[in-house]
Order: sequence, then C-alpha cells, then structure tokens
Amino acid sequence: MKKLILPVVALGIMFWAACSSPAKEEGSGETPESMVPDEVNKNIDEKGVGKFTNVELTHPLNQDWVKEGEGVYNMKCLSCHKLTDEKLVGPGWKGVTTRRKPEWIMNFVTNTEEMIDKSPEAQKMLEVCLTRMPNQNLSDHDARTVLEFIRNNDGEK
Ligand code: HEC
Repeated sequence: MKKLILPVVALGIMFWAACSSPAKEEGSGETPESMVPDEVNKNIDEKGVGKFTNVELTHPLNQDWVKEGEGVYNMKCLSCHKLTDEKLVGPGWKGVTTRRKPEWIMNFVTNTEEMIDKSPEAQKMLEVCLTRMPNQNLSDHDARTVLEFIRNNDGEK
C-alpha cells in the first residue's frame, strides 16, 4: 500500500505547488547567459507593449477622472472584473497597481491583443483565466480615467 500512496502524494504536492504559487521572480542582480531571454521578457513586462511609455500620475488623484473611470468600468469592465481580489472572468482589480506599472495597464487596455500575445505576464493570466480579454476599444482618455479609478480602488490618494 505504501508503495502506491507515496507517488500519489508526491504528485499531488507537485500539482498543488504548480497551481498555488505564481512564478517567482528569479534572482535580481546577476544575469547569466541562460537568463537573457527572461531579462528581455521582463523589459516587455515593465511597461508592456504599446504606445504608452510614460504615464504621468497625479497626486492627489483627479476625482473627475475617477468618476469618469467608474462610468467606463460599469459599462465595459464590470461584467468580467470585480473590484476585490476575486477572479470573475478576468482577475479582480484589487492590487493591480502594485502588480503592474501604469504604462502596462494603459497599454493592456488599449492594445489588448498584442499585449496578450507578447507579454509573458499577460500569458500567465491567460493560463489561469482561459479567456482572452476582448479589446474594449477604449480611447486614450477612457483608459486614463479607468487607470485613475483603479488607483482609487487600491486606496491611492
Ligand atoms: C469579457 C471579459 C472581459 C471584459 C469585458 C474586460 N476584461 Fe479585462 N481581463 C479579462 C481577462 C480574461 C483578463 C486576463 C488576461 C487574459 O487572459 O486575457 C483580463 C485582464 C485585465 C487586466 C490585467 C489584470 C491584472 O491582474 O494584471 C486589466 C488591467 C484589465 N483586464 C482591464 C480591463 C478594463 C479596463 C476593462 C473595461 C474597459 C476590461 N478589462 C474588460 C477579461 C475581460
């Protein structure tokens, strides 16, 4: 009996580990040759792929944009995204601003197809969500107001 149980348990643990821990960032300082592709990917994932390379954040938040962004959220995003950390069709939005740079978020919501194809972080989400986010055809301004709404949701002031 023991002979059978052990491998089963080991397999179980492997699966558990694979699903529950998001891939860890590899060591920071050193970049051995074999890690170069990952480094390239990290650059893509810093700011994502798209036209936004420098998004200026304002403090305090622009409350008009927060309100506008909420309107966009209610109309175009709410069906798939909760404001908590709970997944619906897509990931919950709580904490997005700590996971992603503002440029990444803006590029993701305006250049969704290319981001899902090219950003390793977006691909990781795809593996979990199993649905590609459809492009929501946001204008740059809409995208910026949603970003403000997301910052507000994360408690930024
Ligand atoms: C039909 C469902 C759907 C709609 C509608 C939708 N999304 Fe998504 N969203 C997803 C999925 C699924 C993902 C995960 C990425 C992937 O695999 O495509 C995602 C991912 C995201 C992410 C990255 C989240 C993270 O944790 O990094 C952001 C930001 C985002 N969506 C913003 C928006 C915005 C803004 C809107 C509305 C304008 C919107 N989404 C509408 C399904 C949707």
